[in-house]
Amino acid sequence: MSEGKTVIESVLREDRKFAPPAKFASAAHVRSFADYEKLYAEAARDPEAFWGGIAGSHLDWFTRWTQVLDWQPPFAKWFVGGKLNVSHNCLDRHLATPTRDKVALLWEGEPGDSRKLTYAELHHEVCKAANVLKGLGVKAGDRVGIYMPLVPELAVAMLACTRIGATHSIVFGGFSAEAVRDRMNDAKAKVVITADGGYRRGGVVPLKASVDQALAEGVPSVEAVLVLKRTGDDVPMVAQRDHWWHDEMAKASADCPAVPLDAEHPLFILYTSGTTGKPKGVVHTTGGYLTHVTYSTKLVFDLKDDDVYWCTADIGWVTGHSYVVYGPLANGATSLMFEGAPNHPKPDRIWEIVAKYGVTILYTAPTLIRSVVKWGEEWPAKHDLSTLRLLGTVGEPINPEAWMWYHDKIGGGRCPIVDTWWQTETGGIMISPLPGATPTKPGSGTLPLPGIHPDVVDRTGKSVGLNQGGLLVVRKPWPGMLRTIYGDPERYVKQYWSEIEGNYFTGDGARRDSDGYYWVMGRIDDVVNVAGHRLGTMEIESALVSHRAVAEAAVVDRPDDVKGQALAAFVTLEGQYQASDKLKAELREHVAKEIGAFAKPDDIRFTDSLPKTRSGKIMRRLLRDIAAGKESVGDTTTLEDLSVLARLRESDE
Ligand code: WTA
Repeated sequence: MSEGKTVIESVLREDRKFAPPAKFASAAHVRSFADYEKLYAEAARDPEAFWGGIAGSHLDWFTRWTQVLDWQPPFAKWFVGGKLNVSHNCLDRHLATPTRDKVALLWEGEPGDSRKLTYAELHHEVCKAANVLKGLGVKAGDRVGIYMPLVPELAVAMLACTRIGATHSIVFGGFSAEAVRDRMNDAKAKVVITADGGYRRGGVVPLKASVDQALAEGVPSVEAVLVLKRTGDDVPMVAQRDHWWHDEMAKASADCPAVPLDAEHPLFILYTSGTTGKPKGVVHTTGGYLTHVTYSTKLVFDLKDDDVYWCTADIGWVTGHSYVVYGPLANGATSLMFEGAPNHPKPDRIWEIVAKYGVTILYTAPTLIRSVVKWGEEWPAKHDLSTLRLLGTVGEPINPEAWMWYHDKIGGGRCPIVDTWWQTETGGIMISPLPGATPTKPGSGTLPLPGIHPDVVDRTGKSVGLNQGGLLVVRKPWPGMLRTIYGDPERYVKQYWSEIEGNYFTGDGARRDSDGYYWVMGRIDDVVNVAGHRLGTMEIESALVSHRAVAEAAVVDRPDDVKGQALAAFVTLEGQYQASDKLKAELREHVAKEIGAFAKPDDIRFTDSLPKTRSGKIMRRLLRDIAAGKESVGDTTTLEDLSVLARLRESDE
């Protein structure tokens, strides 16, 4: 035991570096660290020339831009005057090449059903779906809400929107009816695309029922609902408003030219959690976003024509947008989609799929790796994983132990690992190794992509220098950056560009080591990453206080071995309510109803009062220590000593 621990500790030393395997490097797009440095320097010398070159060589434009960047801080316009279409770039332009008959989407449903769509077939479906949307009155600039399971039609729906210039807003299928209602109202969606249901761990997620409930509570902008039949369960259809996907598709023409759209045309709105109770609609546009995701997919995943690429993210999150759909398809890759849970029906489902389809690139979240470790190494060991050549992670810091396990047990020691740091707001990957070029260190995202300029700074915006902790910022605009928060440009300015004058503020804390490698430590604001899902503690607090029994609530994160972070809620009750396990369960269900089951607090503790500073601010640091067990308050559910602790601590808050 102690010997094993020593081995792990020596492995965890920061100077432990893994050079890109020679065989991998020799065939990679960027083959050496010197080449990476050259590319980085070239991009830094003239970022606009660099990004203009990438946009020109990686994408098809109907009209070329006249100006690469119009930067009116903090508002950016990229490729001004350029016209292009995302669906054309992901589909049509491949049809004149051998990619035409290559598999674009490889799909496995949770019950084990499977489908393949070639680029030509996907194009055909997308054209028809675009005509269906037109038939429902959707025009360029309209918003379309999407709330679907992970089925090929979800990608078809996205691409159909982009084909006609409709802006999609996808809501992850784990969100509740209330969350759907709020997002559809904020986006003023004209049409919602959903399904009767989706499969999850052998059960059915009743998506259509949630849409019905959301609309019944009032989403006046929605004129029509398009419903895909996935489970075959009986769902009531509202006359005039609801339409079956298959009926409409059967009638639709497959002729639908892709509309040339302005480079700054809004491509999608994706709601994400911030530091207030209200999620924000992050707006991404057409030309810059597609340039960034196309280029980063190719470089970071070192895509080759025969790769079978699998990003396990749900398309309801940004990773799915950028690295299941748009990045891979723009590169003409084969992208695998899996509808279900990674351990259903057994803990080797994920490895069974890798072996079945000969997956070569696997991109997943640290939380999944930690779960796999917990389920036991016998499960991956049962399967032939020898087709894998590259592994990736995203969404949260990966602890070095999990990295090593992934490297050895899944990658067989031969696959480089790309630990990619980015955010919903950045659109695409910002910091990551290039697998053929950058030596990796377990737990570090290493270095920025060429064209990206992060830094670690203090509150005044000054670089803190190597080996010092600070705030992670981005110094210069980049093409995939969010353009605004939908309907709230002031919040965009305040949230991202006011904290550190002249810089994009990420909300993350980080440190650079003596090699200049970035170590992202996690959020320093009230955003948490629970099992790879981004949540705002304030959102959960608002959900809790909307329950009649709750007077006040504070939600903080605590470390969790598998999920990375778990949620602990401290709740004070209205006078007439008594603390009980029954009430705890009820409050957890209430959060599931308000936001979604994935947002349920792991711990709920009732307290007489919340510890506050004299000015009335909740002492979150103290609560965090209590939640993590660092500060002992006994096992009582009534934390009377909180006020004492608060007084003791007040000086250092
Ligand atoms: C965290 C997901 C460490 C970070 C693409 C960021 C990471 C937030 C990494 C964004 C990584 C993402 N290492 N932390 N490789 N990748 N994060 O918007 O805190 O869901 O700010 O985007 O996830 O989460 P989001």
